[in-house]
Amino acid sequence: MPKQPNSLLEAKLPRARLRFPGGRRFQDVRAGASLLSAVFWAFGLVVMCLPFMRARSRADTVGDDPKRKLSELDIPFAEDVANFDADTKLNLAAALKEASSKWFGEDSEHLAQSGLIQLERLAPGKFAYTRYCAGCHAGNGDGGGSAATHLEPRPRNFRKGVFKFTSTASGKPPLRRDLFQVITRGLSGSSMPNFRLLNEERRHDIVEYVRYLAVRGSFEQMMLDAAWDEQAIPKAEELASIVTKRWSEANAAPVFPSMSEPPKTPETIARGKELFLSATGANCVSCHGPGGRGDGPSATEFKDDWGYPIRPRDLTVGVFRAGSESADLYRSIDTGVKGTPMPSYGSSIEAKDIWCLVHFVQSLKSN
Ligand code: HEC
Ligand code: HEC
Repeated sequence: MPKQPNSLLEAKLPRARLRFPGGRRFQDVRAGASLLSAVFWAFGLVVMCLPFMRARSRADTVGDDPKRKLSELDIPFAEDVANFDADTKLNLAAALKEASSKWFGEDSEHLAQSGLIQLERLAPGKFAYTRYCAGCHAGNGDGGGSAATHLEPRPRNFRKGVFKFTSTASGKPPLRRDLFQVITRGLSGSSMPNFRLLNEERRHDIVEYVRYLAVRGSFEQMMLDAAWDEQAIPKAEELASIVTKRWSEANAAPVFPSMSEPPKTPETIARGKELFLSATGANCVSCHGPGGRGDGPSATEFKDDWGYPIRPRDLTVGVFRAGSESADLYRSIDTGVKGTPMPSYGSSIEAKDIWCLVHFVQSLKSN
């Protein structure tokens, strides 16, 4: 008597009887299906890796333009310099390289004497910067890191020497502690992370390196702009002294409210609203719109100093890059947001009224 199968596994399934059109057996079809699925998987894997492979190949190029190589001059506008040289038959590339390292290179005597940068922090600063920041801000600080193309807003290009969130008057470079604060707190509502877990000394090192990139980068940018204007190799010494003076002022006194915050009352909020809405008051409404949603009549077609489109903030979300404490908002309204259309009100509106605007902006947050 044939042995009874005691489990389904031992049971002989009636496979042989399962036939597909063309007379192929079930097993053959199954093998074909596995092969097909393996091919699909392999294809999927390649597709998934493509962005990484592209990112790798862009790692040494700048911004959106893969033709711009950093290798020649370590500056983002190597191509503009090459165009200038081709146009004028001058050698700006060599002049720029020499002037840049003479006035603002890591071993520059001028830089050492100027006191602009704490030179002993540069090496550890560069090391940490390369590790934590270059993926977004790029090794040379031009904001074209490998992750940058996917980010909105874009990571800052430090090489123009312009920073948005500073406690200095309109047009002035940031204080060390402004940069330290940005690195420590990050910028809410953007991809700029906070680095509060990084040891404090390291953050100070990074601040010096960012200053270095900004000082040196803005000098190189000025040289290039002046060369195009004058159609000649510009006098490096004059430009170097302008840059040095500008950044020495970065240690000037920060903007402080001339009075401390008054208690928030329905009256201060109402006064803030009046100023916000009135064309003869602060006229915030023209950009931020009557409800503060960033949809005012002037809110179209703005570009920031880095050439990217920018919109007035939707104030009802209650997320502010420079922080949402009253003092942070006061500062943003007093000093403006540099490099963007958001104006500075410090010289046109009294401290008492700026506080009222702060209270009104805080009251806009929708729950
Ligand atoms: C994931 C991407 C990313 C990384 C990593 C990153 N940043 Fe940023 N960072 C940004 C973006 C985006 C902005 C611009 C935000 C804006 O425009 O409001 C920014 C802005 C800044 C600013 C300008 C602030 C101002 O007032 O204008 C500084 C300074 C800065 N980052 C420093 C750093 C440093 C230092 C590191 C490394 C320790 C770092 N960032 C790492 C994305 C990044
Ligand atoms: C000319 C247009 C314009 C006017 C007028 C204007 N803003 Fe802005 N504002 C902007 C833009 C653009 C931004 C976005 C800046 C950015 O994205 O970095 C902004 C951002 C802000 C922020 C966010 C700051 C942060 O930390 O994120 C606040 C708060 C603000 N504005 C308040 C005001 C108030 C209050 C007034 C009137 C006193 C005003 N704005 C007038 C254009 C304007």
